[in-house]
Amino acid sequence: MNVTILGTGYVGLTTGACLAYLGHEVTCVDPDASKIGALQRGEVPFHEPHLEDLLVAARPNLKFTMDYSDAIPNAQVVFIAVGTPPGVGGAPDLRYLQAAAEGVGERLGHHFTVIVNKSTVPIGSGNWVGAIIRDAAERRGRGKDCFAVASNPEFLREGSALLDSLYPDRVVIGADDPRTAEVLYTLYRPILDQTFQAPSFLPRPDRVGGVPLISTDLASAELIKYAANAFLALKISYINEIGQLAEKVGADISQVARGIGLDARIGTRFLQAGIGWGGSCFGKDTAALISTASEYGLDMSIVKAARHVNQHQRERVVEKLLGELKLLKGRTVGLLGLAFKPHTDDLREAPALDVAKHLLERGARVKVHDPVAMSRFKKEYPALDVTLASDAHEVARDADAVVLVTEWAQYLELDWESLASVMRTPILLDTRHALDRGRITRAGFRYLTLAG
Ligand code: UDX
Repeated sequence: MNVTILGTGYVGLTTGACLAYLGHEVTCVDPDASKIGALQRGEVPFHEPHLEDLLVAARPNLKFTMDYSDAIPNAQVVFIAVGTPPGVGGAPDLRYLQAAAEGVGERLGHHFTVIVNKSTVPIGSGNWVGAIIRDAAERRGRGKDCFAVASNPEFLREGSALLDSLYPDRVVIGADDPRTAEVLYTLYRPILDQTFQAPSFLPRPDRVGGVPLISTDLASAELIKYAANAFLALKISYINEIGQLAEKVGADISQVARGIGLDARIGTRFLQAGIGWGGSCFGKDTAALISTASEYGLDMSIVKAARHVNQHQRERVVEKLLGELKLLKGRTVGLLGLAFKPHTDDLREAPALDVAKHLLERGARVKVHDPVAMSRFKKEYPALDVTLASDAHEVARDADAVVLVTEWAQYLELDWESLASVMRTPILLDTRHALDRGRITRAGFRYLTLAG
């Protein structure tokens, strides 16, 4: 099929690469000339495992352009995957979505086109986008039957975006026009039936057979996305709240998480206690859910509580360090990890940023390191007065404490004895419960977590 993707961020580029790999003819559009130039040269503008390899494999079916007129008229399916950054009061800023919808409406071809909202957009956006496209299309003399809008939320996690896209737990298609579901079913058929040849670098996991399809109305699909992300966020905040109690009563939160997670009704995933969630989705989506619900007089108290617990976890890092060091003024604290999670260089809502700011406010000196996010950090946060360390040893040298903020694999295998030997006081705060207490203690550290 002929597919156009508007926006070449994580969602747009991943979707484009996967659909092109499946054999569809894909055109990716972005107004950013330098990004399009880089993509045409085969460079990926962010860190995502295997995306570069998949783009190479899919190259014959992929085109990159800045020009809507090149991309829209022939498309059978147009994915809108533009940014929806946080706006004021919790509702996302929809100006890029609006511009994309207008751009599509003005250039629709003479066949039936399905426009898919792939960005996470507030509930009701499907109708809104439909109205914008209709107005623009009518100004060009096109009838209202020439297109339909669908919602097809993504559930991809950064760091495993391609696996999540090629081997999803489910595909959700929300559409109020029956022709739409049929088109998208054809588009996704290789994924639904798992009939495509898996790339050698992304083998099909054993458990993956046919993928369930949820075919529903627009509003339900939009709500599924928010409800799923909010539930995952709640799960993390729940285990972190239990972690606070575990610390008080002397329980081991990792064992508690395993003990409850093995109940199949609960599940072990997303019960990793620690510093809480960061990233572009959970914070923004829970805020948007609260904002939408408030328009209907609903309070969303559980979701609000999850956000509160999450924010508090970041402050607890400083409380913990204060408890150990008594004074932070003049102390040096090293942070291992800047990205909001491993396998990405994304710094949006990364806990490390808040931790660094809180420590600086208390008069501490802060040293930081990350295996992949350093250059992005330098570019995006030039004003944050921290020292960039060349490796973990430099983070530890003369530090009064080291905080493991992102559980990158290379940090888990550090020579901890040697790190302890270069520190002023060998204190390690493992905010991810990623290290073995016995191992770290034997290396000479005082080992702390946020749950004890
Ligand atoms: C999330 C959703 O998982 C995905 O389905 C959606 O499409 C986008 O938002 P992402 O933000 O990329 O994906 O990462 P995810 O793996 O969900 O992790 C989010 C945050 O939660 C990270 O900061 C991670 O460190 C944290 N986390 C995750 C925990 O603290 N504990 C856990 O058990 C799991």
